[in-house]
Amino acid sequence: MKIYLRLLQYLRPYLWPYFTMAMVCMLGFSATSGVMPFLVQRVFDDVFGRKDQVVLVYLPFVIIGVFAFRGFMNFGQSYLTDYVGLRIINDLRNALHYHLQYLSLSFFHRHTTGTLITRVNSDVGLVRSALTDSAASLMRDTTSLVALIAVAFLKDWVLATIAFVVFPASVLPVTRLGRKMRHLTRRGQVTTGTLTTFLQESIQGSRIVKAFGMEKYESERFAQENRRLLRQFLRASRMKAVVTPAMETLASLAIGAVVWYGGSSVIGGGRTQGEFMAFMTAMFLMYQPFKHLTRTYTMIQQGIAGAERVFEILDAEAEIRDRPDARPAPRFSRAIEFHDVSFGYGGNLVLKNINLRIRAGELVALVGVSGVGKSTLADLIPRFYDVTAGKITLDRVDIRDVTLASLRSQIGMVTQHTFLFNDTVRTNIAYGDMTKDMDHIVAAAKAAHAQEFIMAMPQGYDSVIAEMGMDLSGGQRQRLAIARALLKDAPILILDEATSSLDTESEKLVQEALENLMVRRTTLVIAHRLSTIRRADRIVVVVDGMIAEEGTHEELLARKKEYSRLYTLQLLEEDGSPRGKVLH
Ligand SMILES: Nc1ncnc2c1ncn2[C@@H]1O[C@H](COP(=O)(O)OP(=O)(O)OP(=O)(O)O)[C@@H](O)[C@H]1O
Ligand SMILES: [Mg+2]
Repeated sequence: MKIYLRLLQYLRPYLWPYFTMAMVCMLGFSATSGVMPFLVQRVFDDVFGRKDQVVLVYLPFVIIGVFAFRGFMNFGQSYLTDYVGLRIINDLRNALHYHLQYLSLSFFHRHTTGTLITRVNSDVGLVRSALTDSAASLMRDTTSLVALIAVAFLKDWVLATIAFVVFPASVLPVTRLGRKMRHLTRRGQVTTGTLTTFLQESIQGSRIVKAFGMEKYESERFAQENRRLLRQFLRASRMKAVVTPAMETLASLAIGAVVWYGGSSVIGGGRTQGEFMAFMTAMFLMYQPFKHLTRTYTMIQQGIAGAERVFEILDAEAEIRDRPDARPAPRFSRAIEFHDVSFGYGGNLVLKNINLRIRAGELVALVGVSGVGKSTLADLIPRFYDVTAGKITLDRVDIRDVTLASLRSQIGMVTQHTFLFNDTVRTNIAYGDMTKDMDHIVAAAKAAHAQEFIMAMPQGYDSVIAEMGMDLSGGQRQRLAIARALLKDAPILILDEATSSLDTESEKLVQEALENLMVRRTTLVIAHRLSTIRRADRIVVVVDGMIAEEGTHEELLARKKEYSRLYTLQLLEEDGSPRGKVLH
C-alpha cells in the first residue's frame, strides 16, 4: 500500500488538467449509457405507440447528438488516460536513467546489465497500467458499486443484508490470488532480466561464441530460461483466468440465497414480483464493476511488483558522492599523495598500506604482475572507489572533501578496456566537452596518430562507430581513447595500458606524442612493456598489494630485486627464449 501511495506521486503532476479531464470524459461517457434505455423507451412509447410525428423528427437528431457526444467523451478518456500513462512512463524512465548515471561503479558490479535494462524498460510498463488504468477503474467502478449497493439497500434491506453477508466470501480468495500474482510477476521480471543478459552476451560476444562453436550451448541456455519465463507467464495467466469463474461461482451463493429467501417471500405474498426483480437487477448490475475491480486488483499487484523493482534502483544511493560541504578543488599544482591507503572491493584487501607521493609534473610508472592491483590503485584517484583506510590527497586536500566534478575534471584517463560509444568519431573524441572546436579535435587525433585512419573512414570525423567500436581494430580504438584523453587537456593523466594494443612502430609514435604532452602534466603510467616506461622519473613496483620498491630504472636495476627480476624475465621473453608471460 505504501508503495502504491508512493507510485501515486507520479500521477500528481498530471492530475490537473489531464487526469481530471480524463475522469470527466469517463463520467460523461458512462452517464450517457443511462440515456440509452430512455431513448429506447421513447422509440417504443412515442413513435410506435402514440405515432408522434414531432418526436419522429427530433429523435434521430437526439440520437446522433448523444452518440457524437459519447464518441467525443470516449476519445477524450482513452487519449487522456494514455497521455498521462505515457508521460508517467517517460518521467520514470528518465528518473531511472538519471539516477543510474550517478550510481557508483560498485553498483554496476552487483547488477547485470540485463537486469537493469529490464527494470528501465519493462517494469516501468507494469507501473503504468497499475497507475492510470487502475486509478480510472478504481474511481469509475467504486462509484457505480457504491451507488448500486445504496440502491440495493433502498429497494430491500433484508435481501441486501443477506446478499452482503454472503458476497464478501467471494472477495477473500481474490485477495489471496493477488498476493500470489505479485510474487509471480516479480519472478517473471527477474527471469526477463536474465534473458536480456543472455541475449546481450550472445550478441556482444558473437565472435567468441562462433570461435568456440558454442552456438548450440548459447541457444539452449537461452531456450531454457525462455521456457522458464513461459511457464511463469502461463501460471500467471491461469491464475488470472481462474479469478472470474471462481468469483462467479462464489457470487452464485449470494444469488442463490437471495433467490431462495426472496422467492419464498414473493410466494408467501410478502413482496411483489416487481420489487424482487428490481433488486435482482441491481445485483446483476453490480457484477460488472465488481469484476472490473478484481481485475484492477491483480493489475495493481503486478504494478507493485514492478514498482518495487523500480524503486529499488531509485533508492540505491551512490556510495561515492559529494559531501554536503564539498568545495571545488583548485587546479592541481603540487602533489598527489597516498597516505597509508588500503583498499578492498569487498572481502580481502587488494591494496595494503600504500604510501606514495606523485609530484606535479612527474611521470610515475606502476609495475607489477597481473592482478596485483595496479588498475585498482589508479581508479582510486578519480574516486571510482573510496579507500577502505587511509586517505588520498591532492595538494594536501583529501579528495573526499572536494566535489567529484572538480576532481574528475582534472584527470584525463585512458582505461585498460577501451570503451567507445555508438556515435560519431568526433563525439567520441570530444566526449566530456562537446563544445570543443574541430581544430582541437583534429589536433588531438593527430597527436594520438588517429588522423590517418579517421580520414580513411567513409565520413571522416562524422562516421558513426559501431557498437563499442566493433568495426575498428584494437589499436584504432585505443588511439581514439588516447585522443579523447589528450583533448580533455587535464593536469593529471592516467594511462592504464594505453598503448598495449599498438605495434612497436605506432607505439613509438604515440609515445612521442604522449611525451610531448606529459611535459606539462603529471602522469601515472601502467604498462606491461617495461621498455615503454624506462624514461619514467620514478618506477613503483607493486607486489602483493604493497609497494615493494621504487626508484628510477637504473636504480632499480642496480638493486637487483623485484624490478630487475621482472625486467630480465621480459628481456628473455622478447629474445624469444623461455616463454611464460609474467608481466601484464
Ligand atoms: N570490481 C571488482 N570487484 C572485485 N574484485 C575486483 C574488481 N576489480 C578487480 N578486482 C580484483 O582486484 C585485484 C586487482 O585487480 P586490478 O585490476 O587492479 O589488477 P591489475 O594489477 O591492474 O592487473 P592487470 O595487470 O591484469 O591489469 C584482482 O585480484 C581482481 O580480481
Ligand atoms: Mg589492470
